[in-house]
Amino acid sequence: MNPTIDLLMAHRSIRKFTEKPIDDALLEILVNAGQASASSSFLQGVTIIRITDPIKRQQFVTLANNQSSIAAAPEFLVFCADLSRSIRCCKMHGGTPTEGFTEQFIISTVDAALYAQNVVIAAESAGLGICYIGAIRNDPVQVTALLNLPKNVYPVFGLCLGYPDQNPEPKPRLPISVVLKENSYDSSEEDAQIKDYDEVVRDYYAMRSGNPKSQSWSEQMARLLEKESRPHMRNYLVQQGFEMK
Ligand SMILES: Cc1cc2nc3c(=O)[nH]c(=O)nc-3n(C[C@H](O)[C@H](O)[C@H](O)COP(=O)(O)O)c2cc1C
Repeated sequence: MNPTIDLLMAHRSIRKFTEKPIDDALLEILVNAGQASASSSFLQGVTIIRITDPIKRQQFVTLANNQSSIAAAPEFLVFCADLSRSIRCCKMHGGTPTEGFTEQFIISTVDAALYAQNVVIAAESAGLGICYIGAIRNDPVQVTALLNLPKNVYPVFGLCLGYPDQNPEPKPRLPISVVLKENSYDSSEEDAQIKDYDEVVRDYYAMRSGNPKSQSWSEQMARLLEKESRPHMRNYLVQQGFEMK
């Protein structure tokens, strides 16, 4: 198609990295690429914390289900949704900020995700591999203490970056016909399409080079949706100032 689209289509998460460090100049370029992302209301509601302290890295490993790649990756960044800066701006101008709105939570979370994905694409274009780490939300209270996060800031995810020391196959995605609708929502054809996709995913899992298993996509979703999903998040967010008004 073109080199940018080819790059996007070649994405796969990398969980094993060589020891080669990422040059500081390159890291700055990657963050600059993040800076260029679109931002709702120009809020720029993001703070990134680069974790270079090996003790802190190890604490992240422990709180994120012992994911050792967090310590082994040449770089580990924590992306935070940040409303505290704009709240300070409001006060700077003598205003009284309206805090805790759900919409503000959405805006800052979307900003963090778009920013991170720009960093990811820039990184992959430079030959790096990445893996998002949502498991840092296993213990957001500890992350908040570890990073000294103020109110109105929360850690959305971490990101491991480094030169790949593995070459996994890209994971097949849902067919476009399932996810792309025209003019209105219609899922009447989806069950049959998901059944076909299930076999594609089952084959992928059976044939892949690392950690083969027998599972279809809908089975994976069933297991996921059967269990509670970080039920502590609601109270944590409220404590951090994201009250969801
Ligand atoms: C927000 C987010 C959080 C994620 N958290 C983790 C994680 O904690 N550990 C992990 O190994 N992979 C994590 N992943 C990677 C997904 O498992 C992966 O993207 C998905 O299985 C698709 O595989 P692919 O990226 O290789 O195409 C995360 C991905 C996203 C977008």
